[in-house]
Amino acid sequence: MLIRRADDLRSSDTTPESLYLNRRDFLAAAGLLGAGLVAGFAPRDAGAMQEPQAVGKPFGLQPDDKPTPWKDVTGYNNFYEFGTGKEDPAEYAKGFVPRPWTVQVDGLVAKSGQYQLEDFLKPSAVEDRIYRHRCVEAWSMVIPWRGIPLADVLKRAQPSSQAKFVEFTTLYDPKRMPGQRSGVLPWPYVEGLRLDEAMHPLTLLATGVYGRDLPNQNGAPLRLVVPWKYGFKGIKSIVRIRLVDKQPRNTWNEANPQEYGFYSNVNPEVDHPRWSQAKERRIGEFLRRPTLMFNGYKDQVASLYAGMDLRKNF
Ligand code: MTE
Repeated sequence: MLIRRADDLRSSDTTPESLYLNRRDFLAAAGLLGAGLVAGFAPRDAGAMQEPQAVGKPFGLQPDDKPTPWKDVTGYNNFYEFGTGKEDPAEYAKGFVPRPWTVQVDGLVAKSGQYQLEDFLKPSAVEDRIYRHRCVEAWSMVIPWRGIPLADVLKRAQPSSQAKFVEFTTLYDPKRMPGQRSGVLPWPYVEGLRLDEAMHPLTLLATGVYGRDLPNQNGAPLRLVVPWKYGFKGIKSIVRIRLVDKQPRNTWNEANPQEYGFYSNVNPEVDHPRWSQAKERRIGEFLRRPTLMFNGYKDQVASLYAGMDLRKNF
């Protein structure tokens, strides 16, 4: 994130591609979002039919939002465990094997335990949801995630009354994650949420994208998605979820506290020290579009921050 900005995109990063949505999703999108969005889901050519389909219920999308092509969702990533370039994760995470996978849920809970990935994937709990995705670097995407509400997992663990925050930790295994052999960030990557943010129904533990298991570069096999926050809150390849009473560390804040806060709510009124956050470049588009407060999820989440100074708590 310290390295490249949206302005640095090469043209190969931004070539738009048409998408295929199946009829059910097409109609769902039409019903929920109106004619403007449907126009964005125009019919496509035979080649595009090979692409995975963008399945899911749209959440908080604007009329001109359409899913970012698979090629960009899976080819333009931040995952420093596999390199600092946007195309590095797709290249260097190829050989990573995210199975078997154990997630420890512990800390201030009545029922701590080790979960196998399969425990997170009970078919009844899994949902497909299309969310906006805004990176602190001022680029954005629209991503069809598959996952389960984090609240489901937390409730099963039964947080105690002392639990106020949730801490997440990425796998630490420099043999399998070559970027961890460098000092580019303090390892392992850690993130945190306040408990009410973690329990919010929009907060997802994602296990897939475009109806498929998460590709390695997107954080296989399990990553966090908090759509009203900058993308760096979306910690990848999680092995531990710990309930705690104090605000946890978070990696980017630790690396550069002047530039990256704990809350990291998308806020067009609070600039990053080195660039404006008022606009964003949607991957695949040329012109910048205005950034929306809480990334367009204001109605759902603003009450979480009532009375807080969002310039101080950035
Ligand atoms: N998680 C880990 N473990 N390591 C990382 O480098 N990068 C973060 C976040 N999660 C990162 C991470 C950043 S800066 C962003 S913008 C998102 O992942 C990118 O998610 P995406 O590649 O699926 O778009």
